[in-house]
Amino acid sequence: MQVVVDNVSKHFAGAIALQNVSFEVCSGSIHGLVGENGAGKSTLGKLVGGILQASDGRVIYDGDDTLVSSPREAIERGIAVVQQELVLCQELTVAENICLGRENTTLGFLRNRESLREFNQLRDELGFDLDGRARVGSLSIADQQQVEILKALSRNARLIVLDEPTSSLTPTETRHLHQVVKRLAKDRETTFIYVSHFLDHILSSCDAVTVLRNGKHIQTGPAKDETHGSLAAAMLGRDLSDVFPPKKAPPPTSAVKLSTSGLTRRRKFENINIQVKAGEIVGIAGLVGSGRSEVLRSIFGADEFQSGMVAIDGYPVGRHTPIMAMRNGLAMVPESRREQGLFLEHSIAENISLINFGELRPFGIVNRGKEAEEIRKWAGRLNIKCTSTDALVSSLSGGNQQKVLFAKWLAGNPSVMLLDEPTRGVDIGAKSEIYHLIAELAARGMAILIVSSELEELVGLCHRMYIMREGSIVGEKSADEIEIGAILRECLGVYEGDLHSKDFCNG
Ligand SMILES: Nc1ncnc2c1ncn2[C@@H]1O[C@H](COP(=O)(O)OP(=O)(O)OP(=O)(O)O)[C@@H](O)[C@H]1O
Ligand SMILES: [Mg+2]
Repeated sequence: MQVVVDNVSKHFAGAIALQNVSFEVCSGSIHGLVGENGAGKSTLGKLVGGILQASDGRVIYDGDDTLVSSPREAIERGIAVVQQELVLCQELTVAENICLGRENTTLGFLRNRESLREFNQLRDELGFDLDGRARVGSLSIADQQQVEILKALSRNARLIVLDEPTSSLTPTETRHLHQVVKRLAKDRETTFIYVSHFLDHILSSCDAVTVLRNGKHIQTGPAKDETHGSLAAAMLGRDLSDVFPPKKAPPPTSAVKLSTSGLTRRRKFENINIQVKAGEIVGIAGLVGSGRSEVLRSIFGADEFQSGMVAIDGYPVGRHTPIMAMRNGLAMVPESRREQGLFLEHSIAENISLINFGELRPFGIVNRGKEAEEIRKWAGRLNIKCTSTDALVSSLSGGNQQKVLFAKWLAGNPSVMLLDEPTRGVDIGAKSEIYHLIAELAARGMAILIVSSELEELVGLCHRMYIMREGSIVGEKSADEIEIGAILRECLGVYEGDLHSKDFCNG
C-alpha cells in the first residue's frame, strides 16, 4: 500500500504535535521514522492508523483519501498499528487478543484449523514462545509486546505501523522480527512504517527514512544515503559531540556506600558480591535473563532473597522492603515505567511528589509553594517537554515519561541510585542529558549501580563493571580494562571469535 501524508497537522489542547507534515511512503517498502522524544512520531503513526484524526491535512492510501475514522475501519482497509504503549486487554487470552476487532470476533479464527496453523507458523517463524491460551495480564512486558506484533502481522495487513516494536525484545527476537518484516515487504508487498530510536536498526532494515523534529518534517530519503551521525544531526538540528561526560572516578579512599555479600535468590542469582563507593558509577553487564534486573530488585527490597546481605554505609539492612530501602537512602528507576513506575492518569507534579517531599511537609502540612518550586526545578533540569507540570503523564511522549520517572526518584535526594535500563525509549539527545546528569550526581557523591542492555552505554559511563552470566558474577573490570569486545565475550561465555556489540545489544 502506498501512503501519502499530505500537509498533516495535529493539535492537542496546548500542544502542537505535528505541523504541515508531508511525505510519501512507497508500497512494499520499510519506511523508518525517527526523531527526538516528543518529535511527533507516535502521533503520526496513530494518524496513519486511524487511531487519531488529523486537525488539518489528510492521509491518502493507494490514491484513496477517504477518512479512516476508527481502528476498526483501519483494520477493514488493511492497516494495523503496534502502539508504543501496549494496549492489550489484560483479562483476555493471547488468542482472544489476537482475534479482537476482526470481522468475526468469535474464537472461530483460532478454532479454525487453517488459521491456527497460520498463527503457529508465524509465531514459530518469529521465534516467539507464546501460549495462545495464556491470559495476557499474566505475561511479562516483553511477551505482551510479542502478542501485539503477532496481532498486527497475523492480520495480513497491507500497511503496518510498528512504533518502537523492539524496546523489550531480546536480540534474537529482534533479529527474527526484522527478518519477517523484510520477507513480508518483499513477498506480499506489505508496507511498514517503522519507528525506532535504534538508528542502527533503521539503517540496516529500512529502505527509506523520514526525520521529524519538533512536529515538523525535516527530510525523507533513502536509508542507504544516511549514517548514524547524519540521522542524529538531522534529528537534533545540531551535531552531537560528547554524548558521554568525561569519566572522573572517585578517589580510592572514597567510602563504600552500597555492598552486598553472598546475595542469593533461588533460581535467579547466586552469591552476588557487589560494592559501590560514593561517587562511583558501577555497571552490571549481561544478557537479558542473566539475572541483572533481579539483583537490583532484591537490593531495593522489591523481591525477597534467601540468603546473603545488603549493607548501606557498612550497616546491614537485612531483609528489607522498598519503603525501608528508601528510608536508607536508596532509589530505584525500574525497567518498565508503565508497570512499575508511573501513574499515567496523574499529573507530572503529582508523580514527582508522590513519594517525596516528606521534609517539606512538617506535621503533614503541605507547603504547596515549596513543592511546586522543587517540581519545576526537576522538570527543568531534566528538560521534560511539557506544557506545564500539571499536564497528565499520559499526554507526554514516551521518552519524556522516562524523564518524569527519573525526576520522581531524584527529588527524594537518595544517596544510592539503582538504575535499570535508564534510557530505554529515550532519544540520543535526551540520553546524553541523562548521562551527564548521572555523572553529575556521582560527582556530588551519589553511588550509582546501573543495568543496561546497551553495552556502549555502560562502557561510556561506568567507572567499573561487573559481568553477569546465568545468575552469577563471572567477571569484573576496572575503568581502564573496559573494552566492548572483551566484555561481550564474557557476557556470552565465549572467548574467541568475531562478535559485534550490535549482536549483543539490539540484534
Ligand atoms: N493526548 C495528548 N494530549 C496532549 N498532548 C499530546 C498527546 N499526545 C501527544 N502529545 C504531545 O505531542 C507531542 C508529540 O508526541 P509523540 O508521542 O507523538 O512523540 P514521539 O515522537 O512519539 O516521542 P517518543 O520518542 O518519546 O515516543 C509531544 O509534545 C506530546 O506531549
Ligand atoms: Mg512515541
